[in-house]
Amino acid sequence: MMISCSQGSPYSRFMGIGAARGHRIVTNADMCTMIDSSDEWIRQRTGIIERRWIDDSQDALSLAYDAARQAIDSSTVSPSKIDAVIVATLSNKRLTPSLAAVLADRLGLVHPAALDISAACAGFCYATSLADSMIRTGSAHHVLVVGVEVLSQITDMSDRSTAFLFGDGAGAVVIGPSATPGIGPVIWGSRGDLSEVITIDNWDDSIDQGSYPVIHMEGNKVFKWAITDIATAAVRAVEAAGIQPADLDAFIPHQANDRIIDAMLRRLNLPDSVQVSRDIAYMGNTSAASIPLAMESMLSSGQASSGDLALIIGFGAGLVFAGQVIVLP
Ligand code: ACO
Repeated sequence: MMISCSQGSPYSRFMGIGAARGHRIVTNADMCTMIDSSDEWIRQRTGIIERRWIDDSQDALSLAYDAARQAIDSSTVSPSKIDAVIVATLSNKRLTPSLAAVLADRLGLVHPAALDISAACAGFCYATSLADSMIRTGSAHHVLVVGVEVLSQITDMSDRSTAFLFGDGAGAVVIGPSATPGIGPVIWGSRGDLSEVITIDNWDDSIDQGSYPVIHMEGNKVFKWAITDIATAAVRAVEAAGIQPADLDAFIPHQANDRIIDAMLRRLNLPDSVQVSRDIAYMGNTSAASIPLAMESMLSSGQASSGDLALIIGFGAGLVFAGQVIVLP
């Protein structure tokens, strides 16, 4: 006896986008009241000029809600048609319930499938690939994908090797069925052998001390991995989409460090006509939120347009990475 299987749309695409940013603007000068550093060092080593942190009126759920509401409104998809929600985050303060289930309820969605994923700064690209597969196999029709982080709450503000890097925000997209390809093949993988390079641990100790656990990172090891292996993965994602780098309109990598972006540009050999996101200058590194925030910023500023071809690629704690070519919403 054969069971029946679902079949979905031949393709999927991004249908709408939204963003929410921490209300507090924190400059490099502000950071230097907390760590022994300088505006010049931070700019030269990372490209960061300022970052956004939440104020007392915001948290991960409110950021995710604001970004998701905008994404749904701009997609013109009826909320009743969204049948799955994926949230990529490191910042849910509760191991359970998932932020996705709580967010879906807050948005008034009608009991969609809901899950959080832990893929750090690659989370948005992982979630995009999962949503694409769900739509093409028919297990969902319209998927809300959110990347959200409140990294200011899990950063050791006395650690001069990480404190200046991180910011808070959320980016969201609605992904739905399409008659033409809108999401290219994903190139993804993991390096569990390098798992100790970025960690958030010591939950027990932190709980005993009444504080949150914080991010520990050996930045230099991540940097070397990013400019070699991740740059190669970016080239493979373009090849997998069956296009040439020069066919791209935009490059929207994870916003971790300007020098990493420069190294990827050299490896991809992109022509000057390709617009490159440098959202890190004003947002810092917002992990799972960084790519959709950068995408929204490029679209709202006119640096990129709906229908443009963009390469997105994320990498971070795990270590994990994922990237694909997509058509901008
Ligand atoms: N201010 C001034 N000097 C500093 C600071 C600071 N804040 N921090 C370190 N230094 C000094 C160091 O002491 C060292 O001095 P020395 O040469 O006298 O020994 C020097 O600067 C160089 O230190 P490095 O750690 O080698 O600095 P590097 O150039 O690697 O820059 C950085 C550090 C910005 C963190 C970089 O390594 C980086 O961006 N790494 C990638 C991070 C990343 O992509 N993370 C992935 C996502 S995060 C996630 O998944 C949550």
